[in-house]
Amino acid sequence: MAAVGGLPYPAPMPASPSPRALPSLRAALLAWYDGDHRDLPWRRTSDPWAVLVSEVMLQQTTVAAVTPYYERFMARWPTAADLARCEDDDLASEWSGLGYYRRARMLKQAALAVSERGMPVDRDGLRELPGVGDYTAAAVASIALGEPVAAVDGNVERVLCRLHALDGDPRKAAGRRVLRERAEALLDGARPGDFNQALMELGARVCRPKSPRCAECPLHAGCAARRSGEPERWPPPPKPTSWKAVTRVVIVADRRGRVLLGRRTESPNAGFLDLPGRDLLPGELDAAGDPRDGAGVLAQHLNREHGLVAEGLDPLPPHRHVITRHRILVLPFAASRLVGRPKGGVSFVDLAAASAPPTTATKRILSKSLPHVLHAPS
Ligand code: ADE
Repeated sequence: MAAVGGLPYPAPMPASPSPRALPSLRAALLAWYDGDHRDLPWRRTSDPWAVLVSEVMLQQTTVAAVTPYYERFMARWPTAADLARCEDDDLASEWSGLGYYRRARMLKQAALAVSERGMPVDRDGLRELPGVGDYTAAAVASIALGEPVAAVDGNVERVLCRLHALDGDPRKAAGRRVLRERAEALLDGARPGDFNQALMELGARVCRPKSPRCAECPLHAGCAARRSGEPERWPPPPKPTSWKAVTRVVIVADRRGRVLLGRRTESPNAGFLDLPGRDLLPGELDAAGDPRDGAGVLAQHLNREHGLVAEGLDPLPPHRHVITRHRILVLPFAASRLVGRPKGGVSFVDLAAASAPPTTATKRILSKSLPHVLHAPS
């Protein structure tokens, strides 16, 4: 903070670029993109269906993680009609590891709609497809159909908040409205798809959340946040997440290596295979307690829900993972014997021949646990 006559006063707000500066910023951004953009598989097509698939996948994770999934997916189901006919379990296998399986199910719904009614020809038509929101509709309309509409994803949001030093919260309606206005004003109407992807690319590679590379930025001359000397101050930080801690006991296998799995019926990952077990109730296991305390709860659960008597439950290495706002501590167990015929939606599964894929957490727990189960002294 600076001082006047000994009194501190806040630094003046850096000025946002004027409307007259926008054409040169637009041109600088497109020149940067033309010279230096990544050659990505969905940039080699103008098929709106393929672009839609890429955009749905890119909402899940990074470009690097999406690329092999996209290539396998499009080789297997090149058109909407192909995807509309796919087996749900095959879809789950191809999507496994990308996260949010619900998006894959919505994509299949969109494929059914497209194969019945044809591919929409503009943003408003795209917006009507199952699972397609404002961002995805605008991205596909601009990239594949050349419609001059701005597509504001998280990366673009950050670039625009910094360029204009916007203090409004982009997660609230008023902040989003201002962002949308700024995005539409900056858009290049002649090359909207390239322009939107240039902003996405700039956000991913240069205007990064931490340590932005301002010296390399084509918008450097106009950027209000850069001029402030503290570009990371924008956008305003999100409210801290209210985490929920969950501890879950699960059975992995018996000492013969037989793995017990059931299909999830609930989101997230409905349809995927999961290890049977349950969340501990408050008081059943305090955080500092001995994981062995979970064995009694698990034995009772297996008996009541799945008709099995679990003898000699031993704890295996714990596993931690995070889903949405839940921090989950999984306490896996192996049984020396599982007696009875499994019921209640679970069965002993040969992993190599399973009809559906396990959830990512299940795969990790199995790969960590099974060596302990199979090599334990009996
Ligand atoms: N993120 C979302 N859409 C993208 C695209 N088309 N290219 C690169 N990153 C993206």
